[in-house]
Amino acid sequence: MSNVDDREFFLKNIKKKSLSLGLDEEIFKKSKDLIYDLDVYDYNYLWTWMGVPIIQLPADIMATQEVIWKTKPDIIIETGVARGGSLIFMASILEVIGSGKVIGVDIDIRKHNRDSIEAHPMSKRITLIEGGSVDSNILDKVKSYIKKGNKVMVVLDSDHSRDHVLNECRAYGPMVSKDCYLVVADTLVGHVEEKDAPVNRSKLWFKGNDPLSATYDYLSETDRFEVDDEINGKLVLSSSPGGYLKCINENIT
Ligand SMILES: C[S@@+](CC[C@H](N)C(=O)[O-])C[C@H]1O[C@@H](n2cnc3c(N)ncnc32)[C@H](O)[C@@H]1O
Repeated sequence: MSNVDDREFFLKNIKKKSLSLGLDEEIFKKSKDLIYDLDVYDYNYLWTWMGVPIIQLPADIMATQEVIWKTKPDIIIETGVARGGSLIFMASILEVIGSGKVIGVDIDIRKHNRDSIEAHPMSKRITLIEGGSVDSNILDKVKSYIKKGNKVMVVLDSDHSRDHVLNECRAYGPMVSKDCYLVVADTLVGHVEEKDAPVNRSKLWFKGNDPLSATYDYLSETDRFEVDDEINGKLVLSSSPGGYLKCINENIT
């Protein structure tokens, strides 16, 4: 291996190849078809982070890690806690960074799930809030944890219906800080026809009633976010292609 310092070249190549991969429709189709085939094996549900089930595909865990490390948020809000693995994962990255808190909002935090989150070494960086993610009293609670000047990132991974996600974007988008990310999960559903919708979910979601439609609608009504083409471009075998939105403007309201 050459001893020449090629770090800059390496990073430029990541960007170049990620952007071109994002334009490769054939690979995207293969990826979507493979995820569809893998769903028979509950592939989304096969993983744990530090011992706690995380309902994410490995590519999304990697992408989220990149975003957190790059932006080093003070607060990460996640709607949709389930068994807590994603909260534990994000808290563990903040733990390595040395600061920051994760707020998890879920309409139904079951006792056994709360127990495993609260017993985990990363729980010191986690706050759980039980309730509907767009209920006004829940939004007030979430906002009470954000202090002036905090860098805030948001992950939306609760009810994936279009209207709910759009309401979440409208409620949580304004909390995201410039240069941080709003991650809309499960945008892949926006590429799935109704007849092909996975049935092993709490609700049926498919093209038209999905987080991707909500993302497009939200992007058309705000100038604060843009799709990060580099991170989304390299996302194959991901549940959330097109869902990593970078906040590019301050919130002046
Ligand atoms: C896909 S799971 C979350 C997975 C989790 N983020 C992970 O990566 O392991 C969706 C969760 O959203 C919650 N949920 C559904 N509707 C909700 C709502 N209106 N408000 C808050 N949470 C909701 C469900 O109770 C469920 O636990």
